[in-house]
Amino acid sequence: MRDLLITGAALADGTTGDVGVRDGVFVAAGDVRDPERIDADGLLVLPGLVDPHTHLREPGREETETVATGTAAAARGGFTAVHAMANLDPVTDTAEAAEYLAALAARTASAEVVVVGSVTKGLGGEQLSEMGLMHASAAGVRMFSDDGRCVMDPLVMRRALTYAKTFDAVIAQHAQDTRLAGTGACCHESEISGRLGLPGWPAQAESTIIARDVELAELAGGRLHVCHVSTAEGVEVIRWAKRRGIAVTAEVTPHHLYLGTREVEGYDTTFKVNPPLRTDEHIEAVRGALADGTIDMVGTDHAPHAREDKDHPFDIALPGMIGLEQALGVVVETMVDTGRLDWPTLVERMSSAPARLTRSATQGRPIALGEPANLVLVDASARSVVDRDASASKSRNNPYHGRDLPDPVVATVWAGRVTHRR
Ligand code: DOR
Repeated sequence: MRDLLITGAALADGTTGDVGVRDGVFVAAGDVRDPERIDADGLLVLPGLVDPHTHLREPGREETETVATGTAAAARGGFTAVHAMANLDPVTDTAEAAEYLAALAARTASAEVVVVGSVTKGLGGEQLSEMGLMHASAAGVRMFSDDGRCVMDPLVMRRALTYAKTFDAVIAQHAQDTRLAGTGACCHESEISGRLGLPGWPAQAESTIIARDVELAELAGGRLHVCHVSTAEGVEVIRWAKRRGIAVTAEVTPHHLYLGTREVEGYDTTFKVNPPLRTDEHIEAVRGALADGTIDMVGTDHAPHAREDKDHPFDIALPGMIGLEQALGVVVETMVDTGRLDWPTLVERMSSAPARLTRSATQGRPIALGEPANLVLVDASARSVVDRDASASKSRNNPYHGRDLPDPVVATVWAGRVTHRR
C-alpha cells in the first residue's frame, strides 16, 4: 500500500496542516516515502463517516446490491464503515451466517462492514436468534436488529435487551406497530393519505413502540437504539427517556430530514419507504432533534430495490430508497447550510456517535498521529445535480435524482487505502 500525503486540508475545527498516511495510520507529513499526493487546499478533512444502518442485499438479492457495490457506494459517500442489516437471505441469525458475511466483506468490501445479527430467528419475531454465538464468532457481532420488521412482542424485546446486555451489545429497533395500521399501509396517515386514497401509518405507530421500548430498556438495563426516527412524537419520547437516564440512542435518515409527504403526490414508488415520509412539522422536529442531540446520529437506511419490485401500485411496491452517496450532501443542505449544525457536530453525528454504537476501536477516531487512517475530504461548497445512473449502487431507487444538492465528497480513505477519489 502506497503512502499518502494530503496537503493543505483544514480540520473540522479550522486548523490547517498536512496529513501523512503510512501503513494504515496517520503519521507526520515528513515521515512518508514516495507518497500518492492529494492537494487538499480549500478542503476539509474529516474522520471517515460511519453508517449505522445499511442494507447490502448479499447474500440473497445480489441483482440489487452486493457487498462490493454497496460499499463502493459507501466510499463514494465518504463512509469508511457501514453496519450491514440482517434482513438478508439467509437472514444473519447464526454464527455461520455472520462469519460468512464478515469473510465476504474481507474479500470484496471498500469499507469496513460491521455485521448486524437479527434479534429473532428468520426475523420471525418469536424465538431469539443465536445472539451469544454470533457475538462470540469471528464476526464479533455487537448489534442486533430485525430491521425491516418491528420486534412486536414485548417479552421477546425484553429478553433480547436482557441477553444483549450480558455482552454489551445493542438492540436496534424498527419502531413501527403494524397493528396500528391497516394492511397495505404505505404513507403517512394525514390529509394526504385520505386525498390519495392510500392507507396510512399514524405517527403513533412509531412513538408508542419507542415508548414501550425505552421502558423495556430501563427494566432490562440494556442498550436500545431506535432506527430511523421520523416523528415529532417519537422525538419527544426519546427526549423524555434520555432525561431519565435510560440507555437509548437514535438515528434519523437523510430522507426524513429532507423529503416530505408532497413527494408521494405523484404515486412515484421511489418515495415509498418505511417509516413513511412525513409532514413539515415532523421534518422540523427531527431536524431540531439532530441539532440538539436528542437524535444522536444519521443512518442512511440505504435500501436498494430492483425495478420489478418498485414497478407496482403504491400500496404493494417494496418500501425503501438508496442514499449512501447523497447522505452527506443532504445533511449539509438541511443542517449545515441552514446554520443548525457546525462541522465538529456533524462529525459527532455521522462518525463518532455511530462508531461508539458498536464500540469500534478503529472508526470515528480523530485525525491524529497514530490513529487509523479513515478520512473523507470534503469540498463544502461543491454542488451538482444528482444522476441516479451515475451511482456505484446496483439499484436506481434514488429519491434525489434530478435535484441540485451539495456534492461534498472529494476523496475517501479507509485504513490508509484510497477507496474513492473524484
Ligand atoms: O423502507 C425500508 N426498507 N425500511 C426498512 O426499514 C427496511 C428497508 C429494506 O430492507 O428494504
